Amino acid sequence: MTAQILDGKKVATDVRAQIAKEVEQTEGITPGLAVVLVGDDQASQVYVRNKEKACNSVGINSFMHLLPASTRQEELLDLIKKLNADSKVHGILVQLPVPPQIDPDIILQAIDPTKDVDGFHPFNTGKLMAGLKTFVPCTPRGIMHLLAAYNISLAGKHAVVVGRSNIVGKPMASLLMARDATVTVCHSKTSDLKEFTRSADILVVAVGRPRLITADMVKPGAVVVDVGINRLPEGLVGDVDFDTVKEVASYITPVPGGVGPLTIAMLLQNTLESALDK
Ligand code: GUN
Repeated sequence: MTAQILDGKKVATDVRAQIAKEVEQTEGITPGLAVVLVGDDQASQVYVRNKEKACNSVGINSFMHLLPASTRQEELLDLIKKLNADSKVHGILVQLPVPPQIDPDIILQAIDPTKDVDGFHPFNTGKLMAGLKTFVPCTPRGIMHLLAAYNISLAGKHAVVVGRSNIVGKPMASLLMARDATVTVCHSKTSDLKEFTRSADILVVAVGRPRLITADMVKPGAVVVDVGINRLPEGLVGDVDFDTVKEVASYITPVPGGVGPLTIAMLLQNTLESALDK
């Protein structure tokens, strides 16, 4: 069996078209997203540029704040205070990671939770865990949208999430539980990872280890979602060994063109919803 590709690029294009239509119909208000990058991490620079371009393509205002790597925590907090008070800004995103002199937890907690389109403020992560309406972190929200677009059912399925980050693993587990999946979360200290991954009907991998998941670790017919973006000399590869796993899985996301485009589309969606809530 060769797996069907979960075409994130195509699904994201549809989402973005719908957002552009809604932005056009919102009278008297243009959604605005402030993106803050501290330092000159190359991957982060690419990510924020892509976010800016994506905003512009759907008619969302983007306010870019590119700060030097030497920026002090107080300076960044001052900027966040200004953005919190700015009525043109409906979403605030501080690109992670931040340089070592800045405590990311203090920064994320300084963002107004009603503008927290990343869904990283503890107030919003708590609401997500409680099953309340809130900003859902973009990557897990994108994955849920992608699975829904292909009518993949979750109720009663065993979902295994590899990775326990605040950005992907933990919120992903909450969302899958909320949809009645039975969820196992694995991480770097899990002994015998394969024993868990082999029992997964839905396998979501977000650890940043190139081609960690090989065909022998995947149950035949499983749905495999690869969140990894690893830059190797030969190009971008995911956390899943795509070429072999696609022969075992029923559905699989490619890298690139799988989860990544949905992440950006959901950032736009969260920003639009924040603007409409005002
Ligand atoms: N760094 C890696 N992923 C993300 C993300 O989704 N949001 C932010 N702000 N930083 C990130």
